[in-house]
Amino acid sequence: MTRRDYLQMMAATAAAARTVTASPAGGDADREQRMKWWHEARFGMFIHWGLYSVLGRHEWVMENEGIPVAEYERLAKQFKPKPNAARDWARLAKQAGQRYMVMTTKHHEGFCHFDSKLTNYCAPKQGPGRDLVKEYVEAARGEGMRVGFYYSLMDWHHPDGARCATDEAARRRFVDYIHGQIHELLSNYGKIDVLWYDVSWPLDAAGWESEKMNAMVFQLQPEIIVNNRNALQGDFATPEQRITADQRAWESCMTMNDSWGYQRADDNWKTPKTIVRNLVTCAHDTGNYLLNIGPRADGSIPEESVAILTKVGKWMAANGQTIYQSEKCQPNRSAFASFSRKGNTLYMHVHFWPGSTVALGGLRNKVQSAKLAASGKEVKFDQDDFRVRFTGLPEKAPDDPVTTLAIECDVEPHQDNLYVRKERPRLKA
Ligand code: GLC
Repeated sequence: MTRRDYLQMMAATAAAARTVTASPAGGDADREQRMKWWHEARFGMFIHWGLYSVLGRHEWVMENEGIPVAEYERLAKQFKPKPNAARDWARLAKQAGQRYMVMTTKHHEGFCHFDSKLTNYCAPKQGPGRDLVKEYVEAARGEGMRVGFYYSLMDWHHPDGARCATDEAARRRFVDYIHGQIHELLSNYGKIDVLWYDVSWPLDAAGWESEKMNAMVFQLQPEIIVNNRNALQGDFATPEQRITADQRAWESCMTMNDSWGYQRADDNWKTPKTIVRNLVTCAHDTGNYLLNIGPRADGSIPEESVAILTKVGKWMAANGQTIYQSEKCQPNRSAFASFSRKGNTLYMHVHFWPGSTVALGGLRNKVQSAKLAASGKEVKFDQDDFRVRFTGLPEKAPDDPVTTLAIECDVEPHQDNLYVRKERPRLKA
């Protein structure tokens, strides 16, 4: 064997080993390493943007209103976003304390924001006249954001998108198309951090050839993480519009009003307080929060979303240390606060401020010191077997929309409300 042959063989062996260990079946150690940044990040921005943004009546408008393909297609010529709109998204995400972004590269409507050799129904060949995924990737990276691609498997535009379920030749063509586009997305934009599949209708894992799909993904992007919506488990679960902890890694995705895509009349906005509370609820159980914006067709972000995220960002700038890298937290019981934890520090996030004294029942460990998380100001306290009271606080909540106490404990904080119920002396001394 010549030295050249030997080196080639070694390179091939190493590449094969990489493919194997990088696959989602490649073991927990590999997964843990790939997901480290994501677990620490806690907070990301979801972006739903497409031809539906031109109509402004929700991203399901094509199906909900029964719009024929030929009629809907005309929107592709009308879609003319301003240059580099994604820079505003990325700046806002950074300001909000979000650490990663996930943009719809193709939603159910089938229109592709990226340059695809497999279809003309894509941004460079239609109204935009340029590659919008490229702009997005550059904008996100420019602000130090991790980059995610949402990609819908379900496709209302592709001629084989429905009949693939009953016609093998159609399935073959359609699955080649989908795999081919994923190949393009993960080959043409440098390092991608998250692949966020969506809606696997009308096929199952066998029909989609999902194992092969993921193997290709990990071969192209060995450090990527993938979600569970291509009919496989993937790296993380995706509870939608609700916050439910999972045994495994999870990310709750949520709209800021009631629509993912731009819907001009949807005014059901969550308050900044609700967003912060949701973020804390995720952090409490070590989940992530992927919060959506639905830009208009020109790429501008609805003012309400900007206002909400700006306010959340102010809070994150002062309190982010209570969210990023949070660890599983046990204390949970209060009618006016929620909790997160890092090491022996319990963060008590008070959303309904009770006044100059803030009390917590059932904490079974010793408090050593307390302060306001945002300002670092010391907080006085007294503690007995059943409760701890933080005293001398302002009558009005010092921080908006949530005031957080950082409570340093002697060991990992633990709350036991049953202890209070059973053991509290019931007779006067
Ligand atoms: C659902 C909806 C879709 C949205 C997605 C986000 O699957 O069909 O419109 O993109 O949720 O999680």
